[in-house]
Amino acid sequence: MNNLAPLLAREVARRRTFAIIAHPDAGKTTLTEKLLLFGGAIQLAGAVKARGEQRRARSDWMKVERERGISVTASVMTFEHEGEIFNLLDTPGHEDFSEDTYRTLTAVDSAVMVIDAAKGIETQTRKLFEACRLRDVPIITFINKMDRESRDPFDLLSEIEQTLALDVTPASWPIGMGKTFRGCFDIFKDRLVLFDRGTTQEQTGIEIKGLDDPLLDQRLKPDEAQRLRDEVEMARGLMPKFDLESYREGHLSPVYFGSAVNNFGVGELLHGLAEFAPSPRPQPTTGRKVEPMEDKVSGFVFKIQANMDPKHRDRIAFVRLCSGHFERGMKLTHVRSSKQINVHNAVLFLARDRELAEEAYAGDIIGLPNHGNLRIGDSLSEGEPLQFTGIPSFAPEHLQSVRADDPLRAKHLGKALEQLAEEGAARVLRPQIGTEWIVGVVGALQFEILADRIRTEYGLQVKFEPVGLYAARWVESDDPAKLKAFLDETRAAIAHDHNGDPVFLARNAWHLDRAQQDHPEIRFLKTKEQA
Ligand code: G4P
Repeated sequence: MNNLAPLLAREVARRRTFAIIAHPDAGKTTLTEKLLLFGGAIQLAGAVKARGEQRRARSDWMKVERERGISVTASVMTFEHEGEIFNLLDTPGHEDFSEDTYRTLTAVDSAVMVIDAAKGIETQTRKLFEACRLRDVPIITFINKMDRESRDPFDLLSEIEQTLALDVTPASWPIGMGKTFRGCFDIFKDRLVLFDRGTTQEQTGIEIKGLDDPLLDQRLKPDEAQRLRDEVEMARGLMPKFDLESYREGHLSPVYFGSAVNNFGVGELLHGLAEFAPSPRPQPTTGRKVEPMEDKVSGFVFKIQANMDPKHRDRIAFVRLCSGHFERGMKLTHVRSSKQINVHNAVLFLARDRELAEEAYAGDIIGLPNHGNLRIGDSLSEGEPLQFTGIPSFAPEHLQSVRADDPLRAKHLGKALEQLAEEGAARVLRPQIGTEWIVGVVGALQFEILADRIRTEYGLQVKFEPVGLYAARWVESDDPAKLKAFLDETRAAIAHDHNGDPVFLARNAWHLDRAQQDHPEIRFLKTKEQA
């Protein structure tokens, strides 16, 4: 025990760091706005340094987002509600940005899964859910848009259970839907919460003493009350009871029904998060688990946002703190380089004065401005050589060559690509043979976005062109001599990524299969942990 212990215990216990996962259009943005409304957001990341001139520069970039109607960059939103501090990490929902999203999910302790009540589980919901499952991230489900014609609640719950292989238990039960939506019965709190279309206020509930309470009959029409009683009874019979441990292990999801746009069900969801969602969890490193209440500060970089100010080429590294009491001005060790960083200008998306991070705890996200020395996956500590694990990198699925319109500026292009690669926006590969750059991305739309960024942030017109490559795989072997022999033999198909790691470029599926069959001693990796 140390004298920091009571402070750390208190601060860690009141933090909830979470993400909202949803298929586009399910209502993630709306729900985020409503949650922030409840909390009175303390700070919105991403807007942090955007003032005056800087804001204009940034808004150029935002234009790309607006034009496509998608949100490209994830951000952090911190708000406080009834003494709890919520760090909401935004995950871009578009499938083209899944890599960033996956990494953001490594920085949260729980997630809220938003489902459109008319559509149920959609492709992106499933993908994001699988990413959460990899790390046993506990999930609270919010079935949204009950004010519209929806699917039957039993049908929705059984779909979640079957397609995601996840136990579900209703936290609330909807009364009607669409035009006849009357509200929800809060199963956990034994309350009736009536729906008042269009209100911006939190709808207050009516205390009910069990489903047999005559108050229910006064407030609902006889058929509504009867149906509610029957359905809740049936749901209780069919589905498991809420079990905190099972939820925290990621096996069971409590399900809330609501309508985000009408602010309905949002308060209950927030209470659910406060009550059930885990506070910052221990984080794995190569050597040991780091407990959030350890007194020494540690954290890892899960995201880099570059060029918030194109003139200065500065970047912000988003660091998830994993332990200790962070204070402004402290020195942290950048584990990869063993260098000390004096952290006097960390941006906290939480500080009350909105600008500089005075202090922070496990679960908080701090932003460290830097010039490229911090990379995704890097660990920071107060000296111990910790290396946090589990931050994934994905082999690109789309590969194109890129060249500057003005060949004299090829060197600038190289620099721009290197920076984008370090930020994690793209994989940049340098083939062993030839002089061109190959850029790999996880979603095809990213080429367009990269071209836009290279133009606005680096003043370079570039062209991406197909190169007839099918796939890229990192190659590894336990035997360095065999790896070298393989690299020599397949020299024409080898490139190096920005870390200098070798990558095999396959022309087609057959080429990849053949190389794998001929070289069983070589591992061809689709994902790699950042190190
Ligand atoms: P996303 O971030 O998950 O992509 O979804 P977003 O919140 O942008 O919501 C998608 C659309 O669904 C929006 O309509 C939004 O208003 C609507 N919506 C969100 N929650 C509810 C709800 O509870 N009930 C109903 N009926 N609609 C909801 P839009 O027409 O695309 O935009 P807008 O012009 O209404 O803003």
